[in-house]
Amino acid sequence: MGVNAIPSSLLSVDDGRPDPRILAQGHPPAGPLIDTFARVADDLRVSVTDRCNFRCTYCMPAEGLRWLPKPEILTFEEIDRVVGVFSSLGVRAVKLTGGEPTVRSDLPALVRMLRERDPDLELSMTTNGILLDRLAGPLAEAGLDRVTVSCDSLLRHRFAEMTRRDALERVFGGLRAAEGAGLVPIKLNVVVIGGQNDGEVVSFARFARETGYEVRFIEYMPLDAEHRWERDKVVPNADVLQRIDAELPLVPADGEPHPASTYRFADGAPGAIGVISSVTEPFCDTCNRLRLTSDGKLLACLFVLEEVDLRDPLRSGASDDELVGLIRAGVWAKWEGHRINHPDFVRPTRSMSMIGG
Ligand code: 5AD
Ligand code: SF4
Repeated sequence: MGVNAIPSSLLSVDDGRPDPRILAQGHPPAGPLIDTFARVADDLRVSVTDRCNFRCTYCMPAEGLRWLPKPEILTFEEIDRVVGVFSSLGVRAVKLTGGEPTVRSDLPALVRMLRERDPDLELSMTTNGILLDRLAGPLAEAGLDRVTVSCDSLLRHRFAEMTRRDALERVFGGLRAAEGAGLVPIKLNVVVIGGQNDGEVVSFARFARETGYEVRFIEYMPLDAEHRWERDKVVPNADVLQRIDAELPLVPADGEPHPASTYRFADGAPGAIGVISSVTEPFCDTCNRLRLTSDGKLLACLFVLEEVDLRDPLRSGASDDELVGLIRAGVWAKWEGHRINHPDFVRPTRSMSMIGG
């Protein structure tokens, strides 16, 4: 098999676009945020900045990525307004992401605004953890519920190699601070890359048992800025689960085994294992996620080629109803799923740090 050959079992046949006849009927004027494949979107990832203080190899180049100019980035007031509109459309979970969200100054102020507007919102954040030692307390106090921390190795040298920062100890400190501040249950995101950290999956499972965290293994996706992604570097989560299960037996936590699912340890130890198998077992048919970039574009999928601009309408005085119309139309036009496993796959121009995971 060539480097990027696609196993035939993964090949999809249709073109993934919505049926033009259904698309032309237009979205329903009210009710939940629905697309033509009958998926309901109720989970919004909000990227608050494209900047980051790490340079993970699978995401950013070592140097040279240009940041968005500040005037292009939504203000906290603009983010709060847009989140309010999404809430009115049934979005009940918001995850703050980046880049690295904690490099945006005074992030707790945004958390407080979102929390004050909606006490019931599920509000979490994905972070590299390096600034949590000082920010966990203020973020928790402002109303953040919990954090997901990215951590790709438990070994100092490999962590430094993958993130291009010698910062593992500080991330551990950040995790302790998050626990102390009550930002729980803590999840750990591990992007598994063949030939790099794939030998550590069982160590991560032991770490989950020791800490009680949910360790989530993420398949490497073609969203890195340097276009180094190769299919052969993707480690199927089925292999990850098998390796762990051979040493530490697992049971599905949510009944049916499912690609985007969680497992517990059969012996009842604390902690959990999650798998996000976007490449080998895409879960697009049940995707409920939307993304808002830091410059105010709505992305119905990580891999969309068409973005919906909300910022310019927002800044030129659009009413909430007008924003609702743009959002409903954007969600309605969502494709069936990503095209990674299709020969006609086209990479989006934005890499991960400019989308938010
Ligand atoms: N493939 C898979 N996951 C990625 N992330 C960043 N880039 C990639 C990629 N190319 C992860 C980060 C973070 C989450 C938001 O997305 O590690 O945990
Ligand atoms: Fe959803 Fe897009 Fe991810 Fe598929 S690739 S699960 S459609 S965000």
